Amino acid sequence: MSDARRVLIGVGGGIAAYKVCEVVSTLFKAGVQVRGILTQAAQEFITPLTLTTLSRHPAYTDEVFWKPSHQRPVHIELGEWAELLVIAPLTANTLGKLAHGLADNLLTNTVLASRCPVLLAPAMNTEMWEASSVQRNWQQLVQDARYHSVGLGTGLLACDRVGVGRMAEPVEILAGVSSLLHSKGKRDLLGKKVLISTGSTREHLDPVRFIGNPSTGKMGLALAQAAKYRGAKVTLVHGPATWEAPLGIQTIPVVSAAEMQQEMLSSFSDADLTIMAAAVADVKPAEYASEKLPKQSLPSALTLEAVPDILVELGNRKQPHQRLIGFAAQTGDILTPAWEKLKRKQLDAIAANPIDQPGSGFGSDTNQAIFLDAQGRQQQIAPCSKLEMAHYLLDFVIGN
Ligand code: CTP
Repeated sequence: MSDARRVLIGVGGGIAAYKVCEVVSTLFKAGVQVRGILTQAAQEFITPLTLTTLSRHPAYTDEVFWKPSHQRPVHIELGEWAELLVIAPLTANTLGKLAHGLADNLLTNTVLASRCPVLLAPAMNTEMWEASSVQRNWQQLVQDARYHSVGLGTGLLACDRVGVGRMAEPVEILAGVSSLLHSKGKRDLLGKKVLISTGSTREHLDPVRFIGNPSTGKMGLALAQAAKYRGAKVTLVHGPATWEAPLGIQTIPVVSAAEMQQEMLSSFSDADLTIMAAAVADVKPAEYASEKLPKQSLPSALTLEAVPDILVELGNRKQPHQRLIGFAAQTGDILTPAWEKLKRKQLDAIAANPIDQPGSGFGSDTNQAIFLDAQGRQQQIAPCSKLEMAHYLLDFVIGN
């Protein structure tokens, strides 16, 4: 068997089925082996040929399931093959069957015949989703540790209603796939509260001009996603961002270092694990003009004041059961300053980032780092996606 990861995608009968094509195509391009099952109803929306073409493997339907064959039953074969099962879109019908352990087609039989984690991406009209029977089935199903979920989004639905019911976007489903392949569905942060800061802070001189940096917050967003899939309750304090965090992550937007400091301090005492991934501006203009300054009134030199070091303050308040992690974005020698910051800021661990290396700077989708901890452990992480880096950091901190 090849080393490639093995993802089985079960497509239900909903209009969101078309979005699954992008998930399959992206996974295939990333080197993942993908197999697809279409329910009878799914084939009203996309065809087996679509899935076959995108996954480079014949798609499975109920026709294959019921066809007399002397081979091993297809649901057993597929159930054993899959490392991860994704059901997208999950319809009210399939949800009801799974909640009650029913199996009358290839998809539901394969779910029962497998042991791997299952990622559910429900999609339906708002009334259908909110129907008490559907909600009952959903609550019952997600109590089972095997089932993970992504979505539901709110927006314009195919029924022309605006409301809850949209399937998660492909990018969110892909983040779920990547997370569950890494963690194998383990919820090693279940019951833990994880507090993360990310992005840049802006120190304004007047309402339009500020001192800032190019950090986009993608690393902290990835950490939040990774921690959520591992069972944590996540709070993400972030500077100005162009992304939206997926559902299930509490977000607190801030602008300045002072606002970030206030939010981090107010959530810190509850947190089991705190990660400062934010690129906090180190200084702010000493004066703030509440009206936009005309060009002629701009000072020729700025008087700057230091902003508080949030991580140092958190380190001073840290209780023995709490873990505190920092980042050190460095150029040149990354290790010496990272060891120094780990000690001075009383951290349990630090991720030292060489921001001058290709594919690991601000705004990039990939990263590389050396993790250090207070016990003197050191782990080098080769360039990888920020989501993978997030999981490696959590593994390092939890001790996996
Ligand atoms: N940090 C912070 N508050 C600040 C500055 C930094 O909490 N005012 C945090 C960052 O979020 C990061 C860590 O401290 O987790 C290290 O940040 P970095 O900018 O690398 O270090 P500094 O302490 O600012 O040191 P220097 O800029 O001199 O390298």
